Amino acid sequence: TGAVTFDPGFMNTAATTSAITYIDGDAGILRYRGYPIEQLAQHSSFLEVSYLLIYGNLPSPTELEAFDQRIRHHTLLHEELKGFFSGFPRDAHPMPVLSSAVSALSTFYQDSLDPFNAEQVEVSTYRLLAKMPVIAAYALKKSIGQPMLYPDNSHNLVENFLRLSFGLPAEQYEVDPVIAKALDLLLILHADHEQNCSTSTVRLVGSSNANLFASVSAGINALFGPAHGGANEAVLKMLRQIQADGTKPEDYMEKVKNKEDGVRLMGFGHRVYKNYDPRAKIVKATAHEILTKLGGNDELLEIAMRLEEKALNDDYFIQRKLYPNVDFYTGLIYKAMGFPEKMFTVLFAIGRLPGWIAQWREMISDPNTKIGRPRQLYIGEPERDYPVR
Ligand code: CMC
Repeated sequence: TGAVTFDPGFMNTAATTSAITYIDGDAGILRYRGYPIEQLAQHSSFLEVSYLLIYGNLPSPTELEAFDQRIRHHTLLHEELKGFFSGFPRDAHPMPVLSSAVSALSTFYQDSLDPFNAEQVEVSTYRLLAKMPVIAAYALKKSIGQPMLYPDNSHNLVENFLRLSFGLPAEQYEVDPVIAKALDLLLILHADHEQNCSTSTVRLVGSSNANLFASVSAGINALFGPAHGGANEAVLKMLRQIQADGTKPEDYMEKVKNKEDGVRLMGFGHRVYKNYDPRAKIVKATAHEILTKLGGNDELLEIAMRLEEKALNDDYFIQRKLYPNVDFYTGLIYKAMGFPEKMFTVLFAIGRLPGWIAQWREMISDPNTKIGRPRQLYIGEPERDYPVR
């Protein structure tokens, strides 16, 4: 204990050491385990990046193959867990459906819940990596009233997810390599981001020795908020609104700058990046190419680019060092791939999963870990006597 430091939002407080992800927010640098995000985006795969984050080094080809096979082995959901989906209203948002089903995994896999048993942690890791995309696809199917397919383990993780999301029982689903590659890239870009809100939540919940499923479920709920992962959905809503109302981007910017009704330019600004988000740079560079190939909505991309151009040349944004973040352009790509807006944050969650797992495992195996327990500065009533009447 001792003197308490007041730091709302943990602007300056490091709650942990970590060897997983490095960010230099002023220079716009992001590295996973030392590897620059640009190199991973160009040469790696989501599967390989997941291994890298969780185990610390790139896998050998044999290790990657074994990792892949083991994940494929765990894709099937317990039939009773499938029944779970019918309990939600038809128009349920898939994020709370996802967090509920992930939380429910601790009821189905009671044999792998001990955070201090390395073998059990390993099994939970594979179960989560394999099953979460399946749960996510079922949440989508549920929301559009289509039947759920069984995973087909001749496909890898990303292809399987696409087939489960868009396939129909009576039809042969052909994975579009352009979509699979683009999705793989976006998942890589989301895979970890050090102590962001959802990851800190995973660590905080896990610091009480809660199991991995419970901790990740809490992370999913933290990600749901529009200031965090929910921003990708909010960006698209904003762009569509501007399009539908015929608002000029410059007029919208005036509203943002005057803070009318608390309106913000969604997809802009970041707690750590005071420079162009390196992930947004990669997404922007690919958005045009992918949208051309997939026939995405050019008008919305046009609006987004005009908003960005205006913002980057505007004193309000320059003074506050507000740049596009990863969420600014991703929604347009997800939309072009055929995902409904409600699924955007779910896609973020699938991408962030290996990061959550890696951070939780690092926390659990760190001898310096203590239960997370912030302090407060009490500002309430001083002691007063209960009025005995
Ligand atoms: N539009 C307009 N003004 C903004 C924006 C924005 N998007 N972001 C920050 N500001 C202003 C804010 O009003 C404040 O101005 P002032 O100094 O006059 O009060 C100043 O910039 C500093 O903002 P802050 O809210 O104190 O900064 P923060 O570090 O607490 O918040 C943030 C970071 C990401 C929550 C915030 O920038 C934001 O709300 N952005 C929009 C939502 C968004 O895109 N979130 C995704 C974040 S990146 C990926 C992820 O984590 O999911």
